[in-house]
Amino acid sequence: MSVAASTSPAARSIVPVALGDRAYDIHIGAGLIAGAGPLIQAVVPGRPLVVLTDSNVADRHLAPLMASLAASGAKVLEPIIVPAGEASKDMERLGEVMDALLARGIERKTVLVALGGGVVGDLGGFAAAIALRGLDFIQVPTTLLSQVDSSVGGKTGINSRHGKNLIGAFHQPRLVLADTVSLDTLPRREVLAGYAEVVKYGLIDNPGFFTWLEANGQGVVDGDPALRAEAIRVSCLAKAGIVAQDEKEGGLRELLNLGHTFGHALEAEAGYGGELLHGEAVSIGMVMAFDLSVRMGLCPAADAARARAHLAAVGLPVDARHLGGGTWTAETLAAHMAKDKKVKDGRVTFILARGIGQSFRCADVRLDDVRDVLAASLAGHAS
Ligand code: GLY
Repeated sequence: MSVAASTSPAARSIVPVALGDRAYDIHIGAGLIAGAGPLIQAVVPGRPLVVLTDSNVADRHLAPLMASLAASGAKVLEPIIVPAGEASKDMERLGEVMDALLARGIERKTVLVALGGGVVGDLGGFAAAIALRGLDFIQVPTTLLSQVDSSVGGKTGINSRHGKNLIGAFHQPRLVLADTVSLDTLPRREVLAGYAEVVKYGLIDNPGFFTWLEANGQGVVDGDPALRAEAIRVSCLAKAGIVAQDEKEGGLRELLNLGHTFGHALEAEAGYGGELLHGEAVSIGMVMAFDLSVRMGLCPAADAARARAHLAAVGLPVDARHLGGGTWTAETLAAHMAKDKKVKDGRVTFILARGIGQSFRCADVRLDDVRDVLAASLAGHAS
């Protein structure tokens, strides 16, 4: 996977997701929201459209999207706007979205356009998967995290009181439009959280990309348009390559969960009220995964230190020390892991690493080692 030295800020790129008769393109570039109409017409010509978005995104991006859709000649139904925030990914809100879709007289040929971050994409994708037994949908992700991860690959769903994303379906979008300008209005903390998922692709299997991020990551976070577009392009290329080989997560796709088993435990303990963003939990979780790999004698300590140093250098959290006011314990975090949906036959599969860009699946992990890594992170140092 190559990484360009630089790209023009105006450049647009297209990353194909090769899934046979469900293949689709990811467009990346500036102005894709205001220019969405013709791009959508090219994929689903003449079909009625309904936009789902949230209250924050609606204020910023709904008007230009609606104007572009109308100008392209499409029949556009009244948009559906849900409250912003993770709380909208629940059964009650899903029921309201389904009611709103049916009240608008949707047909099988209606296409749902999900405009927003991961919550809107996951909720909208799942609503599309089950409405009238399946509507086509289009992702217009407006956060870095959704542009590099959740809008690509067809994972859709909502949370349950038993855990995150436990109710859902694989349902691939027909098109993804990642407008890099939408990142300009994101709070820095949200950008950083998304950046953790960018780093993840380097750590999984692309050491060249990780080295590029060490040199350019600060520019990506700070808002350099060309660097951002390139980081998103390489991330989408990585994700598309994995999804094309293992759409339903039978094996290879599990690598995308690097840092997530630890991260989900942190998120579960923090609750989903905003104390800890998903990407922040993944950042800490990836450091823990590298520390666990070192502890198990699989990974040179220098590589774990390099991963930790880069995440810390851009401003991401790398240990769990201050979370929960410093009151958390390794035991409670380990108990959350036992409930993760990746548990198989009572065993938790971890994504570990033999070095930067050399991650692999491992079901053979001693719980004592996991607890030691958690305890070290809570104490604020590498294990
Ligand atoms: N976010 C992990 C995946 O899509 O598989």
